[in-house]
Amino acid sequence: GLVNTKKMFAKAIKGGYAIPAYNFNNMEQLQAIIQACVETNSPVILQVSSGARKYANQTLLRYMAQGAVAYAKELGCKKPQIALHLDHGDSFELCKSCIQMGFSSVMIDGSALPYEENVKLTKKVCDYAHKQKDYITVEGELGVLAGVEDDVSAEESHYTKPEEVQDFVKRTGVDSLAISIGTSHGRQKFKPEQCTKNADGILIPPPLAFDVLSEIEKKLPGFPIVLHGSSSVPIEYVKQIEKYGGKLKDSVGIPEAQLRKAAKSAVCKINIDSDGRLAMTAAIRKVFAESPSEFDPRKYLGPARDELKKMYIHKNKEVLGSAGHL
Ligand code: G3H
Ligand code: 13P
Ligand code: ZN
Repeated sequence: GLVNTKKMFAKAIKGGYAIPAYNFNNMEQLQAIIQACVETNSPVILQVSSGARKYANQTLLRYMAQGAVAYAKELGCKKPQIALHLDHGDSFELCKSCIQMGFSSVMIDGSALPYEENVKLTKKVCDYAHKQKDYITVEGELGVLAGVEDDVSAEESHYTKPEEVQDFVKRTGVDSLAISIGTSHGRQKFKPEQCTKNADGILIPPPLAFDVLSEIEKKLPGFPIVLHGSSSVPIEYVKQIEKYGGKLKDSVGIPEAQLRKAAKSAVCKINIDSDGRLAMTAAIRKVFAESPSEFDPRKYLGPARDELKKMYIHKNKEVLGSAGHL
């Protein structure tokens, strides 16, 4: 069945790679994730956001994820390592409901709360999650990412304060910690004025705060660190979408080289959602532009799924390094 994140994180930190955490909202996304992870022999975390629960229904998503374990075996994977994780849980009640429904891992995101309230809420979720028959792993967050986090949107990011992490982990009992070192959600991770431009006019973002990451690692040796907002916003997808009529001004992501570097550190979970949206949209727009009379959803969702799968294979092999670690 589904597994929690405990062992996958321990192995990933030792091995110097990161576990992919891919969001899904529908069947095609789930198929692409599972196919890619089976083909690359990679463990995977399936993430369900509040938006996904609203869109697709929590019960359906839960059965789909449980079905994904059987699907992976059918595709030839002997021992799939698949976690079902609540992304950005915002209350104890929501975490509890997901745990009761069969999620193997949850995030309680108290990062927008004052420190002491974040500690209190995160500890409450951990106490509940850890006493379940199957230990449910809990991810907490310290520091604020700029951009949109579900319904919460922050103008400015606040890096995680290294001096808080030890106290937070000790008092809450969290199994992993999401931090803010310059990543952010969505396709516009930086304002154009924060970037430089290369010769082709492409926006080059400022580097992540690796100094803050290494301070955190020193305070929490061997402890699992999580990076949200880690889409690279591939220029090829942005260009393809715009070529076929889309408008995605000022798109900028986290360069793959930076993620590669992060994956080698204590960062052992990397969250990617926006890149999948871009891959699907690029593929679908191409079908619509080239075959305007197509109206069978399978004829555009199929190519979207294939493009997604290709992208996830690339991430697992070339960016996160999780390929071959089952
Ligand atoms: O953290 C944000 C994820 O990309 C989920 O986004 O709430 O629109 O599903 P969503
Ligand atoms: P991206 O928007 O960069 O894909 O981030 C996804 C994420 O952090 C989900 O929790
Ligand atoms: Zn996130």
